[in-house]
Amino acid sequence: MTITVDLGARSYDVAIGDGVRRGLKDLIAKRAPKAQVAVIVTSPSLRAQPWFDFETGISQHVLEVPEGEDAKTLQTVEALLEKIASLGLSRNDILIAVGGGAVTDLGGFAAASYLRGIGLINISTSVAGQVDAAIGGKTGVNLSAGKNLVGAFHQPLGVFCDFETIATLPERERLAGMGEVAKCWLLEGRSAKDLGSQTSSELATMAVALKARIVSGDEREGGERALLNYGHTFGHALEVLSLAKSKDELRHGEAVAIGLSFAAHLAHALGRVGAEVIANHNAVLDFFGLSYAAPRDFSVEALLEAMSHDKKAHHDLTFVLLGANGFEVVTGIDPDVVAKTIESFRG
Ligand SMILES: NC(=O)c1ccc[n+]([C@@H]2O[C@H](COP(=O)([O-])OP(=O)(O)OC[C@H]3O[C@@H](n4cnc5c(N)ncnc54)[C@H](O)[C@@H]3O)[C@@H](O)[C@H]2O)c1
Ligand SMILES: [Zn+2]
Repeated sequence: MTITVDLGARSYDVAIGDGVRRGLKDLIAKRAPKAQVAVIVTSPSLRAQPWFDFETGISQHVLEVPEGEDAKTLQTVEALLEKIASLGLSRNDILIAVGGGAVTDLGGFAAASYLRGIGLINISTSVAGQVDAAIGGKTGVNLSAGKNLVGAFHQPLGVFCDFETIATLPERERLAGMGEVAKCWLLEGRSAKDLGSQTSSELATMAVALKARIVSGDEREGGERALLNYGHTFGHALEVLSLAKSKDELRHGEAVAIGLSFAAHLAHALGRVGAEVIANHNAVLDFFGLSYAAPRDFSVEALLEAMSHDKKAHHDLTFVLLGANGFEVVTGIDPDVVAKTIESFRG
C-alpha cells in the first residue's frame, strides 16, 4: 500500500506493509538518479536487528549515532556531519535514516543541513515513527532548554513503514505508539465500536493517511496541521514534568493517551460536547490497552504552568478540542476551568 504526501514538486510516497523496505533501491533510482553515495544513519542496536539488510544499488556506508532521545543533540549532528563530509558526499547523494523518531528527526536534520540540503529517505522502525515522526518533513534536535527547539522542514524523497521491523520493537514502545494511532482514530471522528473489525495494518494505514492528508494541506503548520496536537497540551505537560522526575516515567504516546481523555473532559466541561464523547474516547483508549489515569504526582499549578509554556501555546492555555464545528484549536481557555477539570479528571 502506498500513500502520497501531496506537496507539488516535493510530493513523495509512504510505502506501508510487510517487507516494503525492499523497494529502497528502486526508490533511489527513481527519486535520486544522480546519487552515487548513500549514508545509512542508524543506532548500534538497530543495526544489529535481523531486518537490517538494506540495498541501495549505489555505494553505501552505515553511520551510527548513539541510541535514543539522548542522541538528538547538535553535538551528535556535528559528529555525523563531519563523517558525512569525510566521505565526500555531494549534493546529489542521499541520507537514509533508519530508526524510530529519534533517528529520523536527527538524520533528517543532518540531511537538511549538509550542503543546505541533500536527499533524505526515512525507513521508520517504530509505531510512533511510522504513523507520525517519519512523515511531514519536520526534522530537528533538542536543546537543554527543551525538546525539538532546533530544526528545519525538510521533506523526504520517500518513507518506508515496514511492519517487519516492528516485530523487534519493545512492547512498551509499540503500545506508546498506539497513543498516536488512537489520536488519529478520534480525529477521524470514529467510534470505538468500529475498532474491533480493524487489522493493525488497517489502523496504521488510517493514521498514515490522516497525517499525509493534513500535511498535504498545511505543510508548515499554519492551520489544520495543529490539529495533530490533539491530546498533546495536557499530554506534553505530563511528559515534561515526569521527564524532570525520571526518564522512564512516561512515554510520549502514553502521555498523549491521557491527554486525549483529558481533552474530552475539558470539551465537556466547556459545554462543547456531551458525556458520550468522553465515553467514546475512553473506550478507544481501552481498546488499545492504553491507560488514561493521570498521575497524581504533579500539582495543578505545575501542570497549568507547564501547559502555558508549551511552545505551541504562545503563553496561553490552548487546546485542540472537539465541538459543534468538529476539531479546532481553542485559545485563551479560562485557567480555572482547566484547573477544575484536572481535579475532577484525577478523581
Ligand atoms: N518529526 C516529527 O514530526 C515528529 C513527530 C512525532 C515525534 N517525533 C520525535 O520522535 C521521537 C520519538 O520517536 P519514537 O517513539 O520512535 O522513539 P525512539 O526513536 O527513541 O525509539 C524508541 C526506542 O525503540 C527503539 N527501536 C526503534 N525501532 C525499533 C525496532 N524496530 N526494534 C527494536 N527497537 C527499536 C529505539 O532504539 C529506542 O530505544 C521523539 O524524539 C519525538 O520528538 C517527531
Ligand atoms: Zn505526538
